[in-house]
Amino acid sequence: MIDKVAVVTGANQGIGFGIIKLLCKRGVKTVYLTARDEKRGTEAVKILNSEGFYPVFHQLDITNEESIKKFECYMKNRHSGIDILVNNAAVACKTFSEVTYDDAKNVINVNFNSILTIEKYIYPLLNDNARVINISSDSGHLSKLKNKYWIERLSRDDLQLKDIKDFTSWFLDSIKNNTFKKEDFTWKFLYSYVVAKIAVSAYTRVQQRQTGRGICVNSLHPGFVKTSMTKGTGLLTIEEAAEAPVYLALDADTSIRGKYIWYDKAEVDWADTSLVLNYVDEHTMK
Ligand SMILES: NC(=O)c1ccc[n+]([C@@H]2O[C@H](COP(=O)([O-])OP(=O)(O)OC[C@H]3O[C@@H](n4cnc5c(N)ncnc54)[C@H](OP(=O)(O)O)[C@@H]3O)[C@@H](O)[C@H]2O)c1
Repeated sequence: MIDKVAVVTGANQGIGFGIIKLLCKRGVKTVYLTARDEKRGTEAVKILNSEGFYPVFHQLDITNEESIKKFECYMKNRHSGIDILVNNAAVACKTFSEVTYDDAKNVINVNFNSILTIEKYIYPLLNDNARVINISSDSGHLSKLKNKYWIERLSRDDLQLKDIKDFTSWFLDSIKNNTFKKEDFTWKFLYSYVVAKIAVSAYTRVQQRQTGRGICVNSLHPGFVKTSMTKGTGLLTIEEAAEAPVYLALDADTSIRGKYIWYDKAEVDWADTSLVLNYVDEHTMK
């Protein structure tokens, strides 16, 4: 038994569900399966119960500050701290290649801004030496950008949250004002998702610099995984995709911090824009 408390967001299905199952299998004592929808969350727990795993359910909508505050309060009263936090919950873009302002705003809000609200309320509960895994994507690698100004600004060693907020605002403004240029990106699809996940990977570096107390914060590309997000297409099962996040949560050397990790557990240089990391075929997910 590993005497730790773990929390995974968006864990009622997909990769989050796979991570919960593997954490339980590995013997983590207290595993919180959180989900925005109570029914979907408790049903997921029932499935795991039938397989002999016993995570605890708690409602958590990462875009709802009240929901996060309730979870914070609950955890504060029950545990001396959290040892493992997997920021997994996210949404995809509504359409593959077209961008609307409302959808872009929503994708950036769920996939990136919510990480900031979680940080505000949940990070103070992290134990010393806790491990945080921000689930990013291959689309969150800096090589997905072509715009020289943003590549230079986002890859600075003294990167600040303001740089990242300016980046997401630049993108949203470009959609609103019709000044958006596809040439600023290497991928020609899922632009809002790309921007949000670049923000997640970039902010992981800032969080690592600022968090202290021996806490490791890493971002991770979980692979191209068969989930509802990919409409069941993909190369990995959720069980296979859970391996790398659980490795970061339990096994990785503590010298691995502020990094961008690939689904095979290797460290990839996030700021190396010469890397070609495309393997999701544009037509696969349409
Ligand atoms: N699948 C891939 O190939 C792939 C590749 C790269 C990165 N990723 C990343 O991996 C992570 C998991 O994705 P997945 O493929 O497992 O997707 P998924 O099956 O669609 O699962 C996403 C989960 O996030 C939850 N969620 C969405 N909005 C939420 C909110 N406001 N509050 C709380 N939970 C919320 C969903 O809840 P509901 O069930 O209620 O909708 C669901 O449980 C995401 O960060 C995704 O971007 C996936």
